[in-house]
Amino acid sequence: MIDIHCHILPGMDDGAHNLDISIEMCRIAGYDGIKTIIATPHYFPEQKETKNADMVLKQVKVLNRELKLKNIDVMVLSGMEVFICDEIIGLLDSKEILTLNNSRYLLIELPLFSIPLCTQELFYKLMIKGIVPVIAHPERNSCIINNPGIVLEYVHRGVLIQIDTGSLKGEFGQKVKKTAKTLLKNKSVHFMATDAHNANTRTPQISETFKYVKHLNKELAESIFLTNPFFLINNQAIPSDNNSIDM
Ligand SMILES: [Fe+2]
Repeated sequence: MIDIHCHILPGMDDGAHNLDISIEMCRIAGYDGIKTIIATPHYFPEQKETKNADMVLKQVKVLNRELKLKNIDVMVLSGMEVFICDEIIGLLDSKEILTLNNSRYLLIELPLFSIPLCTQELFYKLMIKGIVPVIAHPERNSCIINNPGIVLEYVHRGVLIQIDTGSLKGEFGQKVKKTAKTLLKNKSVHFMATDAHNANTRTPQISETFKYVKHLNKELAESIFLTNPFFLINNQAIPSDNNSIDM
């Protein structure tokens, strides 16, 4: 399986603190059936002096080399989880930020308690440039918890949605879990990912949630856990399907 959102790089953010933890996380992922991980360290615009695309690419190389030396059959690809701001277009143009595996897909994080005024316009401008926004875990945003219809509107306009495995497991509370299920039911989810941060509490494991969603709807599970992530890392189009499903 492919995990498209994971804080696996050492010392970059609030994810793996050091290389040993990164390696341990990759081991856990490998045992769970994850063979490809996109490293998505947080990118906040105010941190541009300390973290940029070059650093991420360098760390990905270091980690892959270590994995090879240790015979761990997991491959790490480059990416970022970019906090939403109206500078994103300029940051892309100056190659300061990274899309997911250098594809057309950009992982964007919203604040937890608001939706910035620039959001709609930014998504529109990105799509004009051929960049497809993928919203990271919208089910954890309080405005979306109160009105999941916001996400349906984004999806209608071509934005893609990634939800966290932990949200469906109830790790962020019942409201988040309910919102995640509502989005699934409305076929407004395109990817499931671990958003793992460490090797003990928020781990890179996906198989349990895959089984859970498969039990609800096999076709949906296969698209959001298997085929869509595959299309994403290969920079191919993600098929859309707007019919809601029985769950
Ligand atoms: Fe994340």
